[in-house]
Amino acid sequence: MQDVLKVAMPKGRIYKQASRLFREAGLLIPEDMDDSRKLIIPVPEANMEFIMAKPVDVPTYVEYGVADIGVVGKDVLMEEDRDVYELLDLGIARCRMSVIGLPDWQPVLNPRVATKYPNVASQFFRERGQQVEVIKLNGSIELAPLIGLADRIVDMVETGQTLRDNGLVEQEEIFAITTRLIANRVSYRMKNATIQALCDKLQQMLASVR
Ligand code: PRP
Repeated sequence: MQDVLKVAMPKGRIYKQASRLFREAGLLIPEDMDDSRKLIIPVPEANMEFIMAKPVDVPTYVEYGVADIGVVGKDVLMEEDRDVYELLDLGIARCRMSVIGLPDWQPVLNPRVATKYPNVASQFFRERGQQVEVIKLNGSIELAPLIGLADRIVDMVETGQTLRDNGLVEQEEIFAITTRLIANRVSYRMKNATIQALCDKLQQMLASVR
């Protein structure tokens, strides 16, 4: 009997894509779970238990070992900087982290930058040698330059629709984002066979569709 794997899954838009990927890799994950509001979901068919987490909290659960592995965007991994192993690029939820502004943006001294990703933004401008004031917001970041809260924003761009609808332009890409599989360091040793078997299945499936 193999160990039950505790998997921190991001609630919301990545979940459906990730669970589809797991199914395509041959794991028996019932479809009817996609719309459940349950937060701890046993998946005995796949010898797993899903912990339905807010995406930004997935690396925290994995670092503390309450989840053995987790599914999380590279954006969250970069921002949270948790002590976890990054095992696999799942290639889903592809988008990018970018600097965004109004088309007539002009550089100013000590500009304000609004973002949901204060660590990513601070590091980016620090590496550029540019002094900025970072303002943390929790959503609708595109509002900030429109209403004069910030000169620019650092945010995710997927289709570009939000930018177009709000008359903003992407000025510079900071890094590309895809969803990653991560593991707790101790779990990776203690449940190595189980985790490795999962990685192999996912990798084979990903190689066959690429
Ligand atoms: C994200 C992101 C952008 C938008 C990008 O916001 O912060 O606003 O999606 O996607 P697009 O390029 O396809 O338009 P989200 O929908 O997560 O909501 P939020 O504004 O509350 O963060």
